[in-house]
Amino acid sequence: MFGRIMPVSHPATAQTRADVLWWRTAVIYQIYIRSFADGDGDGIGDLAGIRSRLPYLRDLGADAIWITPFYPSPMADGGYDVADYRDIEPLFGTLADADAMIADAHGLGLRVIIDIVPNHSSDQHRWFQAALAAGPGSPERERYVFRPGRGEHGELAPTDWESAFGGPAWTRLPDGEWYLHLFAPEQPDFNWENPEVVTEFEDILRFWLDRGVDGFRIDVANSLKKDQSFPDVGSEAEAVLVPHEGPHHPFWDRDEVHEVYRGWRSVSDTFGADRTFVAEAWVDSPDRLARYTRADELHTAFNFAFVRAPWDAAELRATIDKCLAAAAVVGAPATWVLSNHDVTRHATRYARLDSTGGGVTDEARVGPNTPLDPALGLRRARAATLLMLALPGSAYVYQGEELGLPEVVDLPEDVLADPIWERSEHRVRGRDGCRVPIPWTTDGPSLGFGSGDPWLPQPASFAGLSVQAEQGVAGSTLELYRSALAHRRALTVAQTVDWLPSPEGSLAFRRLTADGSSVVCVVACTDAAVPLPAYDEVLVASTALEHGPDGETRLPGEAAVWLRLR
Ligand code: NOJ
Ligand code: MG
Repeated sequence: MFGRIMPVSHPATAQTRADVLWWRTAVIYQIYIRSFADGDGDGIGDLAGIRSRLPYLRDLGADAIWITPFYPSPMADGGYDVADYRDIEPLFGTLADADAMIADAHGLGLRVIIDIVPNHSSDQHRWFQAALAAGPGSPERERYVFRPGRGEHGELAPTDWESAFGGPAWTRLPDGEWYLHLFAPEQPDFNWENPEVVTEFEDILRFWLDRGVDGFRIDVANSLKKDQSFPDVGSEAEAVLVPHEGPHHPFWDRDEVHEVYRGWRSVSDTFGADRTFVAEAWVDSPDRLARYTRADELHTAFNFAFVRAPWDAAELRATIDKCLAAAAVVGAPATWVLSNHDVTRHATRYARLDSTGGGVTDEARVGPNTPLDPALGLRRARAATLLMLALPGSAYVYQGEELGLPEVVDLPEDVLADPIWERSEHRVRGRDGCRVPIPWTTDGPSLGFGSGDPWLPQPASFAGLSVQAEQGVAGSTLELYRSALAHRRALTVAQTVDWLPSPEGSLAFRRLTADGSSVVCVVACTDAAVPLPAYDEVLVASTALEHGPDGETRLPGEAAVWLRLR
């Protein structure tokens, strides 16, 4: 079907574990554990499921996996409400299963990044339970953010802060005190002014580093420190995950938060330069983001500016330039993402007829009534992936994007499990549409996800997008990813992109490779075909190339290609 694509003869072998700076160029595959693979048939993904699919990830060409929280949790927010940071949720397995999973992954050359959630715990965490029992003024309450209320009888919340999931960020207890939760009420915020909290988290890091994990993805890394004068935000606060950043906001991206990460870096460094952190910090400016990756802080931070960029050549180029420049100032690699478990999948985002970028806000999400062109969305998503994977730095691939899975926009309301749905009083459906269990086979119960009913129903269309349906099929999205990941290994010499002239609405840039040749990535972001420069070889293309009236080779519109030039 795509005649000019060069076949990849062998599956990529993962980078060797001797490479201590692996995280600077790695492709990391994100596993949303509840929805990846179910080993015990209860309809919920688990560690046994992950272990059984590790060879698939090695063959795909991933260097590492990032697993979303697997700790004991009442699942008020899909595991981002942690009840015990040193154990495994029974639904997912045991500590022994985690050890075995880490050993298996390492045996296959895959690194393992786990999720750490330092802003808040579950309300079922023993510290929060102790705080409730101990009452106002106790040292137990000092581990969280408890405050008296305002108003004559303390009946008004201490500040006007809003929860990222909607509604007030404070909940009042029967004893009159209020506690802070920037997310759900079941997720009380820790008090990061308390040295006991600082010590506890450094100790949790050591616990997992000792067990062999290669790194941590830090949940809401930008919210730990709160303005101790507890001022009002003062404006109509947004009921969304996306903050106004900056040193002057009472809780998003305050300068003091960096102290925490200098401490964390000194912990990880004692385990070696190959242990790494990636910050989840939704800050708008690449310069503010780069501060998290200064030499004595975190190694990497997700570039969400790229997620937010619309499918537009000029905007994409400006975003890439800003992200690369900001990262270069601090000597950090850039870190690219197109999809994750919080945003509308990119195959559906780019299917919006208004082609806006993505994000976690209500307006940025694709809902059941958004006008969509799914075929166009997939075509652009495949091109966007080739663009992302050609950029210098590390890249994250979210489970299922390698199959071209769309967002499931029409899940029945009675299955919606994201706390955003209830907290928004059923105005915002939330993030379940990108969390539907992965289809592994073309038929059978839950399409090979497991033997039981999956916790979210899969649409019938998933059968044709399953691993089984795409594996070995030339032109499938799965084979496109495998081929791109195999060729990407040669791209990692120059950490810069050299932009080349290209027609309006398109992008072209060159990367130098290890053998002294160069690879040119051309992306057509409109429906206009783009004439290609002279090349020696087509490495990978998101769609079949075409020939113009004079016989010249052209990249069709809404597509991307990697060309080798000697
Ligand atoms: C970011 C996580 O990615 C998201 O899923 C979660 O709801 C919030 N942090 C709160 O922990
Ligand atoms: Mg299970």
